[in-house]
Amino acid sequence: MTNELPRTRNNKLLDWVEEVALKCKPERVHWCDGSQEEYDRLCAEMVAQGTFIRLNDAKRPNSYLCRSDPGDVARVEDRTFICCERKEDAGPTNNWVHPEEMKAKLDGLLEGCMRGRTMYVIPFSMGPLGSPISHIGVQISDSPYVVVSMRMMTRMGGRVLDVLGDADFVPCLHSIGAPLAPGEADVPWPCNAEHKYIVHFPETHSIVSYGSGYGGNALLGKKCFALRIASSMGREQGWLAEHMLILGVESPEGEKTYVAAAFPSACGKTNFAMLVPPDGFDGWKVRTIGDDIAWLKPQPDGTLRAINPEAGFFGVAPGTSMKSNPNAMKTLNANVIFTNVAMTDDGDVWWEGMTEEVPAHLIDWQGKDWTPGCGRPAAHPNSRFTAPASQCPSIDPAWEDPAGVPIRALIFGGRLSKTFPLVFEAFDWQHGVYLAATMGSEATAAAVGQAAIRRDPFAMLPFCGYNMGDYWNHWLAMETQVETLPRIYRVNWFRKDANGKFAWPGFGDNMRVLKWIVDRVRDRAPEPAASPFGYMPRYQDLNWNGLDFSEDRFNGIMNIDRGEAEAEARDQAELFGRFGHHLPSELEEQREKLLRRLDETPPVWRLA
Ligand code: OXD
Ligand code: MN
Repeated sequence: MTNELPRTRNNKLLDWVEEVALKCKPERVHWCDGSQEEYDRLCAEMVAQGTFIRLNDAKRPNSYLCRSDPGDVARVEDRTFICCERKEDAGPTNNWVHPEEMKAKLDGLLEGCMRGRTMYVIPFSMGPLGSPISHIGVQISDSPYVVVSMRMMTRMGGRVLDVLGDADFVPCLHSIGAPLAPGEADVPWPCNAEHKYIVHFPETHSIVSYGSGYGGNALLGKKCFALRIASSMGREQGWLAEHMLILGVESPEGEKTYVAAAFPSACGKTNFAMLVPPDGFDGWKVRTIGDDIAWLKPQPDGTLRAINPEAGFFGVAPGTSMKSNPNAMKTLNANVIFTNVAMTDDGDVWWEGMTEEVPAHLIDWQGKDWTPGCGRPAAHPNSRFTAPASQCPSIDPAWEDPAGVPIRALIFGGRLSKTFPLVFEAFDWQHGVYLAATMGSEATAAAVGQAAIRRDPFAMLPFCGYNMGDYWNHWLAMETQVETLPRIYRVNWFRKDANGKFAWPGFGDNMRVLKWIVDRVRDRAPEPAASPFGYMPRYQDLNWNGLDFSEDRFNGIMNIDRGEAEAEARDQAELFGRFGHHLPSELEEQREKLLRRLDETPPVWRLA
């Protein structure tokens, strides 16, 4: 069935490809070489098939618009499974099915599932090829959309097989679950409407995804490998796979300080990763290493070094504009695959928030005519761009350094309208792990007077491949594995004032907070104030050049309402209670310590 000579003698790989081909029964097998020619050919085939529309080359060179099936537009968390031998090792925050039961189920679904289609073998490296921090996977897929997207999002193709040699790899099997009967016409976005399974076997480091062709469900290098399987590998091997952006802050003197930051989905991670310093920060630059995932490994020299395992951005389009993120917009000038955005009459793309002026007519993400006020969004709220990271104007020269970059600070933030100040620093490592573990975002702004926080520990709730309690333990253990420990921060860009308005301008002005963090880790910031939540900057410790923001306003977004803080600490008990004996005692101790500090706090704690 293999009608091409593969460029590998890796027996595990050859046997696996043969076995999958026998089971899934594709019409042919293609080993992807990762070349431009292969990419162009597959894109042209998808244009002919109706999957892709080539955009106006004068406006958006070498770029495509893709419209997915309306039922296949996002990650499917309720169809995502962690299949380890014991349920408790998956923990209370993951869906669990025993591996044997799941394999039997998948076996039935995979039988003949690629009939009439090409089976692509996609070797890929997460991280720069050959880096000691990188790992190799091979995805099998019957979707050409996956092949071209993986070429953008990973280092993909024949050269990966050369580096792999005889070594082990993570097998990632993907099928859209839509076999074609002989002579049956294909549809633009085939998928399986009935069955979707996104399955992880952390004990054997393997992945099977069935039924969906979209994003995190189908580009298996991303959430499935680089977070769920890699977090398990990291636990076994002593490193961390995190839902974090990585950026470097460059001072006018050229000093470079790298930080990694975790925010739940839709909290502005890509914007923060590509931040443009505001007026008044002359000579300061923020350089981007990654916008979604970081792999952090302790090094023999005592540092914690990080790589971005991805090679592209798979970003949410709506809300991205020259105002909110000019670097992202410039990244999208050419060579982009857009999925589920709207199309303009001159063959370009548009989404809500892209321009202040709304076009008078569009074709919406479902291919229907659209006019302003028609009552439907033009772009799907989860519409995406897929673009090479190398095109980003703020990309760091070291973004592909195989050694990674040394991380000096870890930042955690959610979307919280009250209770949490703009920024505070953990007292120590254990306190920092507690701050990250209890992180969350408001589900909606509707529940007035309620905590209403959806806990999202480390922004890893949907992405941790094992018991979250054991994951917290793994983080606590890093204290003894890393000599030069990064400092840990909590930030909150989303606090609201008494009128319900955002109290902090955010976006580029977040640089003011970032600079204080850099000054702290470089030991040149003045002694901070000790609040019940952690160390805080005073007004004069931040650079206010170019922004009219009074001391009173600043103190207003830094204060702590004792009643709210106590309610928060009590609410955290519910989260911790779910983990039974997997909960590290250190975290419950931290919670109790906070309550004791609050006992000695006035009704409203303020920066004096
Ligand atoms: C993403 C997510 O797509 O976090 O990055 O959902
Ligand atoms: Mn993400």
